[in-house]
Amino acid sequence: MPVFNLKVNGKSLSVEADEDTPLLWVLRDHFDLVGTKFGCGIGQCGACTVHADGVATRSCLLQVAVATEMEITTIEGLSEDASHPVQQAWKEIDVPQCGYCQAGQMMSAAAFLKETPNPSRSEIRDAMSGNICRCASYNRIEKAVELAASKLS
Ligand code: FES
Ligand code: FES
Repeated sequence: MPVFNLKVNGKSLSVEADEDTPLLWVLRDHFDLVGTKFGCGIGQCGACTVHADGVATRSCLLQVAVATEMEITTIEGLSEDASHPVQQAWKEIDVPQCGYCQAGQMMSAAAFLKETPNPSRSEIRDAMSGNICRCASYNRIEKAVELAASKLS
């Protein structure tokens, strides 16, 4: 099998894998970065969201061979000590219920706020609509994104 060199959370890492292996499995099974979750495997739930060159990306759909060209950030790399304003806001609002979807939610929120620093409630709703939460924590997510935006401004 070929070897791929990746840049993940600022570190250079290598993996031997088939070229069409989803980045999600490389992160979880080879690099032990298990904060990124498997939900649907078909790009529909957002649980697997990471940043690829700063853009919120479904890691279940990104092949490892393509990811080699990109700077990948996972929830473990968003900050060293959970001090990113999105993470702080999530804690203050106490967003998670079971927690399963929340890494993906925070990665989507962080990428969105970089592009849209002062979003309206409807912009937040639109931006976060691709991240499914089976515990229906949507109201708290919206409040947390608003709070994170205020922390970032
Ligand atoms: Fe990737 Fe659902 S696991 S979008
Ligand atoms: Fe349970 Fe979102 S907190 S799925």
